[in-house]
Amino acid sequence: MLLDYMEIPRYVVMGPKALEHIPGVCSKLGFRGLGYIVSGSTFTRRIAEEVLSLLEEGGFKAVAVIVSGNPRCDGFIEEIRSIYRDAKKGGARFIVGVGGGTVLDTAKLISSWLNAPFVSIPTSTAHDGIASPAVSFLLRYRLSMCSEGEVKISAPMAIVADIDVIKDEPYHMVVAGFGDLIAKYTAVKDWRLAVRERGEEYSEYAASMSLMSANLSSRHASSIKDKSVYGIRVLVKALIGSGVAMSIAGSSRPASGSEHLFSHALDLLSFKHGFEPRSHGVQCGVGSIVAMYLHGGDWMRIRNLLLSVKAPVDSKTLGIDEEYLVEALIEASRIRPERFTILSKIKPDRGVAEDILTKALVI
Ligand SMILES: NC(=O)c1ccc[n+]([C@@H]2O[C@H](COP(=O)([O-])OP(=O)(O)OC[C@H]3O[C@@H](n4cnc5c(N)ncnc54)[C@H](OP(=O)(O)O)[C@@H]3O)[C@@H](O)[C@H]2O)c1
Ligand SMILES: [Zn+2]
Repeated sequence: MLLDYMEIPRYVVMGPKALEHIPGVCSKLGFRGLGYIVSGSTFTRRIAEEVLSLLEEGGFKAVAVIVSGNPRCDGFIEEIRSIYRDAKKGGARFIVGVGGGTVLDTAKLISSWLNAPFVSIPTSTAHDGIASPAVSFLLRYRLSMCSEGEVKISAPMAIVADIDVIKDEPYHMVVAGFGDLIAKYTAVKDWRLAVRERGEEYSEYAASMSLMSANLSSRHASSIKDKSVYGIRVLVKALIGSGVAMSIAGSSRPASGSEHLFSHALDLLSFKHGFEPRSHGVQCGVGSIVAMYLHGGDWMRIRNLLLSVKAPVDSKTLGIDEEYLVEALIEASRIRPERFTILSKIKPDRGVAEDILTKALVI
């Protein structure tokens, strides 16, 4: 029998004024010594200052630091290394990330290098890294370019999601989170394909949980589109569920298949051709239409779900040239060869890629 080894968050606090619970959560987790609060430099900085005051009022010592770059910037890894060196020198004992995907990924990486626990305070719903034991593809790519070895990322010890903070996020972040969740339909299909064709390890529990996140957001697409408090709560819960599914599986398999490879390929091609990529979840949503078409599933349903929240579904609404989308589909089958998906079977050339994207109404 194989040994299952799962690392899942101990506390999830979600709702209005959830931030006020941060000192209590840190106490319950037994945190002592200096806390390092990582945020971005604009919107999230203000929230981080609130978290700093709350921790100090709760008797903790803490400092707030800012990460201003992102994985698209050349000096980003050096910026994270510098924060890590300061945190180590200062004797940081726990890390608190306050922000979007870039900030949470930064906090996860520093927590891993320091071997210190991490608390996730998401300020938006744009991605499913809120609870996941993983950093983004682009950040891993950057790390490998800087000769950083494979890093073991842990799941956050706790998640504190303040709906009062998150509900004011711009609508494009809601759309991105929805796309990242719809992507789970094809991620699970790809995983099952890899089980059938490659004998890959499978967790029905993790796959069901990931699909539940996709179903939950589909069922409540209308509240999500209205950006009602209920809709935002559903989105946050589903994103946390997707991250926990990855923890249960011990990999990103339940959350990331060929649709994610398509998005990763677009990110990489944007450097080569100098175009502006769209956010991760938005690209994954379009990738999911294509992946569902290739699986012979109901791709029109995926398209309609995305349209129901006004998410992009094609080259025009994405604002990315057809030529780049064709190249991305070809590249997607090559960039992560160890991840077996429907694209590993098809390995489209230019003609086939054009045909697929045309039939799936993407170009
Ligand atoms: N780990 C994973 O599993 C995973 C999964 C998907 C994506 N990702 C990564 O996540 C990143 C994308 O995340 P993201 O889309 O959240 O973008 P982001 O790069 O984190 O930037 C978000 C921007 O929005 C601002 N912001 C955050 N919350 C806000 C709010 N409630 N209202 C107004 N503005 C707000 C931020 O302010 P500040 O300037 O103050 O920061 C920042 O300027 C990418 O690097 C991607 O690779 C990771
Ligand atoms: Zn994703």
